[in-house]
Amino acid sequence: MTFRMLFSLIAAASFTRAEMPDGLADPLSAADASRVSSPAQWMEKRRPELLEWFTRHMYGRSPGRPETMSFEAFDRDPKALGGKATRIQIAIRPGGAEGPRIDLLVYVPNGVKGPVPAILGLNFWGNHAIHKDPGIRITGSWVEARAGRYVDLSGVQENRATDATRGVNASQWPVEEILSRGYALATVYREDIAADHEPYFKSGVHPLFPKHQETDDNFGTIAAWAWGFSRALDALEKEPAIDARRVAIFGFSRLGKAALWAGATDPRIAMVISNESGAGGAKLFRRAQGEDIQRLNTHFPHWFCRNFRAWNGRDREIPFDQHLVISLIAPRPVYVASALDDKHSDPEGEFLGAKAAEPVYRLLGAQGLPAASWPAPGVSVQGGIGYHVRNGGHDVTDEDWKHYLDFADKHLAGKAPLRTGGNP
Ligand code: GCU
Repeated sequence: MTFRMLFSLIAAASFTRAEMPDGLADPLSAADASRVSSPAQWMEKRRPELLEWFTRHMYGRSPGRPETMSFEAFDRDPKALGGKATRIQIAIRPGGAEGPRIDLLVYVPNGVKGPVPAILGLNFWGNHAIHKDPGIRITGSWVEARAGRYVDLSGVQENRATDATRGVNASQWPVEEILSRGYALATVYREDIAADHEPYFKSGVHPLFPKHQETDDNFGTIAAWAWGFSRALDALEKEPAIDARRVAIFGFSRLGKAALWAGATDPRIAMVISNESGAGGAKLFRRAQGEDIQRLNTHFPHWFCRNFRAWNGRDREIPFDQHLVISLIAPRPVYVASALDDKHSDPEGEFLGAKAAEPVYRLLGAQGLPAASWPAPGVSVQGGIGYHVRNGGHDVTDEDWKHYLDFADKHLAGKAPLRTGGNP
């Protein structure tokens, strides 16, 4: 036996540990202890009760779709990316013409019979950072200047983007590959929706809803990003080239937390991809591994509502956990992905969060997560719930995207999507 074989045996053995933490809430047991044994009981009783719990105690209450919202397509280039795509840019103005502006960038593949399914993702550094295409409008919103492992932000000046930041985040956005697989790609910048820096709630859309900060279930930033996914979907619904019934949403890390909550709250979303979402995303708090509730609420006091602070230091006691957020997406497909070295996100806890949502998928007639134990790195397991852990650290790589696109092919290509019903 070679050293390599021995090593993989040891590694394989260590991937069979995954055990559910004790006392994890049963998705199919209602708050009054009654059993949820039919899809109707899930839809009419358990699902609304869970949505309300997470709204009140964790994410905060969102304002819904504003009547004042307007859309302006300010760019349409049928020969973008060397003729591969039609680029459309839409200014979404939730408060009407004078209010804050959210830019939606869309690439529709040329030469594909439409309307096409789409992947809609939030991005970290501005729409112009996902591709070097000089036609993308550079964001006027605040930009974080912190240099990261996978992004060079030396071109950011006084927290404003410059031409030098075009394409700096392209490694996480394989635009041409997504288009060549027959999907449109749409994206929005996080800071256009909500401030992820101090002063919180002062830029983006929060100033439109001042009353929503007066309560302890205030509209937090993760909820605002989730709300932003829904508003971008409103815009895509108006685009004849896009099949808005087949839109998968995508988010990485904090934006992956938002993607899960968006999928839970907006039944129009056909599929969710949550890349290394960690604490407040897919990982189970009850394992008490990686980032905890106290850290979330201290480092990012704007992400969740004020009521969530009552759970600081009580990760093992919380009566609800993140598998229930994932189960709110059922029966629509959800993909959770981890990276082995991303201990902060507790990769194994992300797997268990996805796995523990399985009973709801099964109850609603969908497939669960077909893996009895934590899969080996690089192996993608795909049922109604998809999962992989790859080698390496916190990032989005081509390997991740390959699995996402395969999962989208399985569920969205040429298919009528599943619907949750319930409240939009
Ligand atoms: C921090 C934070 C995580 C978050 C991550 C990110 O590391 O602690 O919760 O997911 O930032 O969004 O990159």
